[in-house]
Amino acid sequence: MSNKIEELRLEFEKALTEAKDRAALESVRVRFLGRKSGFLTEILRGLKDLNPEERRLIGAAANRLKGEVEARLAEAEKGLQEKPRTTLDLTLPGPEIKIGHLHPLTQIIRESVGFFEKIGFQVREGPEIETEWYNFDALNTPADHPARDMQDTFYLAPGVLLRSHTSPVQIRVMEKEKPPVRIITVGRCYRRDAQDASHFPVFHQLEGLMVEKGTHFTHLKGILTAFLEYVFPFSFKTRFTPSFFPFTEPSAEVSISCPVCQAKGCASCGHSGFLEILGCGMVHPNVLRNVGYKSKELTGLAFGVGIERIAMVKYGIPDIRLFYENDVRFLHQF
Ligand code: DAH
Repeated sequence: MSNKIEELRLEFEKALTEAKDRAALESVRVRFLGRKSGFLTEILRGLKDLNPEERRLIGAAANRLKGEVEARLAEAEKGLQEKPRTTLDLTLPGPEIKIGHLHPLTQIIRESVGFFEKIGFQVREGPEIETEWYNFDALNTPADHPARDMQDTFYLAPGVLLRSHTSPVQIRVMEKEKPPVRIITVGRCYRRDAQDASHFPVFHQLEGLMVEKGTHFTHLKGILTAFLEYVFPFSFKTRFTPSFFPFTEPSAEVSISCPVCQAKGCASCGHSGFLEILGCGMVHPNVLRNVGYKSKELTGLAFGVGIERIAMVKYGIPDIRLFYENDVRFLHQF
């Protein structure tokens, strides 16, 4: 009989090491201590059939084992509580969360608008669907003017078109507002251009207009030089060269020295040492007259900047089409 108790002890030890969770511990408990048919319960229950000597010996051994079994079970249960319930390791770094950001063109737009707001320009808006009058005629570009060729666009109906530049907003603002005027506008423009590395039928421009007594070319030079120094993070020289636009007189093109070759001449600048950035000039008196401004008393300056152009030069992007393809491998770099 005392052998039987020793066997039970060994069996209990084995069962206990195999029990890995709460449910398994509970069934070990039931197997050994269960009220109905637990092994130890049965032994204790059978004591009454033994002679007094045996009863004393076996009873003591069985009770000792019972106490041990209870203590070992309680210990094992506590051990389980201390172990984490799952195998989730909260100290491991989580999966990377990819956060989106502004499109490079939006970034350039916001930076540029921010600059002009700081120096006192206000933002105005105009429609992308324009009339021939606002897009061309009012800007001193009559139907037979050769300058219309360069800005051929999409006609939606006779006299109605997708604007080829942001300059018509100049007219819309001056029609509504009295001088002094200091405004900028940004938005999409359209041209019937074949796609290549530097042309796309849809693109963005930023337009500026300042009209007030005493405005002269040095204001234009100062504003645009400061603007270019604000948007480009490298050092460069700014160059104003004579140009032609029907709505400005005189007109100029602004270039910066090539940041790739430091104006020595390389493939990026077409070996000229300079990169054209924008067009500008003093508002043509005919334009002022077209909106009813007193062209004898007032002067104004205007400029138009290609947003894609700024981004391409700033970041060294070789192909305008990359902006519109939505390829995250390209976009995530900015
Ligand atoms: N609208 C011109 C273009 O798209 C750019 C331009 C040139 C705008 C001179 C101006 C300006 O306001 O004064 O080519």
